[in-house]
Amino acid sequence: MNNDIEEILFDQQQIHEAAVRLGQRITEDYAGQKPLVLSVLKGAYLWTADLIREIDLYVDLEFIKISSYHGGVTSSNEIQLVTDVQSDVKDRDVLILEDIVDTGQSLQFLKDLLKDRGAHSVQVATFLDKKEGRKIEIDADYVGFDVRNEFVVGYGLDYADLYRNLPYVGILKKDIYS
Ligand code: IMP
Ligand code: MG
Repeated sequence: MNNDIEEILFDQQQIHEAAVRLGQRITEDYAGQKPLVLSVLKGAYLWTADLIREIDLYVDLEFIKISSYHGGVTSSNEIQLVTDVQSDVKDRDVLILEDIVDTGQSLQFLKDLLKDRGAHSVQVATFLDKKEGRKIEIDADYVGFDVRNEFVVGYGLDYADLYRNLPYVGILKKDIYS
């Protein structure tokens, strides 16, 4: 599996430091609140596990599953809600945890959904931010790392549902998918 990686971008130590840094900021920013942390499956599960352990607050943890990719390396415009969140978000301060923001379409879909359901506030902590990929003007409130416009895998991020278990983030060799 490691041989399929062109270049390692962020290793375990760097990822840990990003989680600590954002965890501290979130702890300060949400002081006195009990946010509902909403982890977006499947990609954000490792980021969720690491980040929430750096947040020193009472939090509720929920999951939502959406699909936008259908196995390829480019986003489809059609977002599907696969598994809905199991609790009421009305009047809650929701903190969405995402693996990566690329075109911004998934994030827009989620924010609209939560606002429609009466969330009090909706913020986003994304592990990676691929700003060059944006088709919609939308930004995350907390960003672990900016990434250039390459297809990356590892630490939860997949290609065709593989590579999620790599402990680091790397650029996938192009001959794997072309
Ligand atoms: P968006 O809707 O285009 O912003 O895409 C967001 C989703 O696309 C993410 O949650 C990922 O699942 C997936 N995605 C975007 N870029 C990459 C990548 O480089 N590697 C793996 N998945 C990606
Ligand atoms: Mg994915």
